[in-house]
Amino acid sequence: MTGRYALFGHPVAHSLSPRIHAAFAKQAGIAIDYALADVAPEAFAAALAAFAHAGGAGGNVTLPHKAAALALCREASARATRCGAVNTLVRRGDGWFGDNTDGAGLVRDLTGRHQHDLRERRTLLLGAGGAAAGVAPALLDAGIGELTIVNRSPERADALADALGMPGRVHSRYWQDLASLGNFDLVVNATSAARSQARLDLPFAIAYRNTLAVDLGYGVAAIDFLAWARSARCQDRIDGLGMLVEQAAEAFELWHGVRPQTDPVHDLLRRELPLDATD
Ligand code: ATR
Repeated sequence: MTGRYALFGHPVAHSLSPRIHAAFAKQAGIAIDYALADVAPEAFAAALAAFAHAGGAGGNVTLPHKAAALALCREASARATRCGAVNTLVRRGDGWFGDNTDGAGLVRDLTGRHQHDLRERRTLLLGAGGAAAGVAPALLDAGIGELTIVNRSPERADALADALGMPGRVHSRYWQDLASLGNFDLVVNATSAARSQARLDLPFAIAYRNTLAVDLGYGVAAIDFLAWARSARCQDRIDGLGMLVEQAAEAFELWHGVRPQTDPVHDLLRRELPLDATD
């Protein structure tokens, strides 16, 4: 029987996830039905219940439903609970099990595909919304050094730093003080500024030659930040395409018990991006 899967988000029309999961399923020789479910926040709980009723075996969750998804799970992994967000749902009995594969996907892309050692890197996280909360625990677990969180609305940076619960290692700072914080070995753009065509105001002083600059977005959404990183002379600039493929592979393994090969799928999608945002 073909298993039913779906991506819940708003919007989802341009998502690459159906193609990624179709490619993984082809590799594994299994048939899956992976649909796109564009649902507004107020309709999410009912849509998920209807999907379960129709035999849905698993789901991915993207903006803006990740926190709501956690609340709808009967059980959740420790990492999803820590992030306060779920991006992967697995039907277990008559309830949902929730996990979050975003952070692991990012770390696997940076350390596996790109062979970067994250240990002891002084890290700056730009943004304190869902994307930032989703990757911060995994970065800390991967051994980064001090983590500084800066957000347009400072109270959200404070809240994320508090939630991470490592006062000696995680700090929040004001955006307007960025130029006086020294430079960082890793700068991660987890803001959604590009989605509203806004430009981030970032001083070059936060970066140097060996800064690894990472945007969690990909394609057009990553262009501005990675162009800034290039002007700041960062040698290593990485967009979020690899993270997207890796988080999908983790979800695929949870659903099907098979770890897909990610490189062929990543390389195919990379060639198709309208502009190579990493260059
Ligand atoms: P996501 O799940 O993508 O993180 P989110 O939870 O809405 O979405 O968070 C968006 C993040 O991008 C927030 O950190 C937001 O800052 P605020 O908390 O101040 O809203 C940040 N962001 C969005 N537009 C921005 C902009 N133009 N400049 C700086 N930060 C921005």
